[in-house]
Amino acid sequence: MNFKRNIIITGGAGFIGSHVVRLFVRKYPEYHIINLDLLTYAGNLANLKDIENEPNYTFVKADICDFDTVYALMQEHKVDGIIHLAAESHVDRSIKDPFTFARTNVMGTLSLLQAAKLYWESLPEKFEGKRFYHISTDEVYGALELTHPEGIEPPFTTTASSSEHHLAYGKDFFYEDTPYNPHSPYSAAKASSDHFVRAFHDTYGMPTIVTNCSNNYGPYQFPEKLIPLFINNIRHRKPLPVYGKGENVRDWLYVEDHARAIDLIFHKGEVAETYNIGGFNEWKNIDIIKVLIATVDRLLGNEEGASLDLITYVTDRAGHDMRYAIDSSKLQRELGWEPSLQFEEGIEKTVRWYLDNEEWLENITSGDYERYYEEMYSKR
Ligand code: NAD
Ligand code: DAU
Repeated sequence: MNFKRNIIITGGAGFIGSHVVRLFVRKYPEYHIINLDLLTYAGNLANLKDIENEPNYTFVKADICDFDTVYALMQEHKVDGIIHLAAESHVDRSIKDPFTFARTNVMGTLSLLQAAKLYWESLPEKFEGKRFYHISTDEVYGALELTHPEGIEPPFTTTASSSEHHLAYGKDFFYEDTPYNPHSPYSAAKASSDHFVRAFHDTYGMPTIVTNCSNNYGPYQFPEKLIPLFINNIRHRKPLPVYGKGENVRDWLYVEDHARAIDLIFHKGEVAETYNIGGFNEWKNIDIIKVLIATVDRLLGNEEGASLDLITYVTDRAGHDMRYAIDSSKLQRELGWEPSLQFEEGIEKTVRWYLDNEEWLENITSGDYERYYEEMYSKR
């Protein structure tokens, strides 16, 4: 079949990647979407059951670090676009096993860049019409402090961005030109990969784009991350391990809004630009946990507050970043993107999804996951 575009999406069997693959496969039947994923513990083809038989979708199990395979795939499918999400993504795992993070996130990205460069340079039109889009994180910018204007207790209303008013836990935000200052092995590896992507533009003229997004939540997230882990634990009346005092702040975005931003930026973003993506939606962990408890209890028909006793304060994460807050006004101003869901709406949808998809959760939360979970939490 002759497609208008042939696009590799890496990490398409993971959390965010599966939403991006689904959106592209459904919205662009004229594109061939090649999902390149190694299916590590975080990759799950059940995330894509609903589109697996679509004629414009191909799954390839491969390692992004395997240069020869990636290069051959690019030739075979005449790939003209790469949307790169494959990564090791969990901070706690990076603290235990930094090598794997350097291998996948740094060397894997470099292998993709080099394969794309060599393949595209071999074509008569070279980089014309090509795009290498790298998905990164706000964590590369480091951590912000919890600060607030004189006399006003956070959260307070601010107009620091183009979005009219939003709640914030400080005056500072991450902007596209905020200097990199990563603290965890995960964010250090992501920062390194971002530098390589930009270096390929500056050195070889590769048409690259980088975006840095805040915390995502929604269906199909691996239950090692705060929101799905806590929903699952509340349902099974397991302790909720709150790191430190639960005061850390994260800026939450519904995953489908991230996928919509990726679609927009892939098509309309300026080459060599960076765009921050975030929902202007800051929450202290402990407040989000209380919302989760209230929502799960209500949906399960439990008495109000029945699961509050599960909150268990545990040893803090090493090097735990205090606050992340993305200023996404450039993306809003230049490309007209904005989040579609209010947080309350997104959380309700998310909790319902995990409660309705018990089988999906149970398939993951057996075997290796059990061992990981025991090891991770028994010592805290
Ligand atoms: P995830 O851990 O859910 O999925 C990662 C996917 O990459 C999995 O399908 C896994 O099998 C695949 N993968 C891992 N190593 C691979 C390799 N060597 N070769 C091929 N595939 C491999 O991750 P996620 O949360 O969906 O994050 C996706 C991307 O978005 C990552 O690059 C992450 O840094 C970035 N990001 C995530 C968030 C978030 O809140 N989750 C926020 C901003 C940016
Ligand atoms: O900001 C974007 C990043 O968000 C992404 O780049 C990462 O891939 C993604 O994992 C996420 O990183 P965080 O470390 O912020 O997410 P996590 O869900 O692990 O933790 C969210 C907050 O909750 C953080 O402050 C740590 C805390 N936490 C987490 C877990 C798993 C707990 O208090 N207890 C827990 O058990």
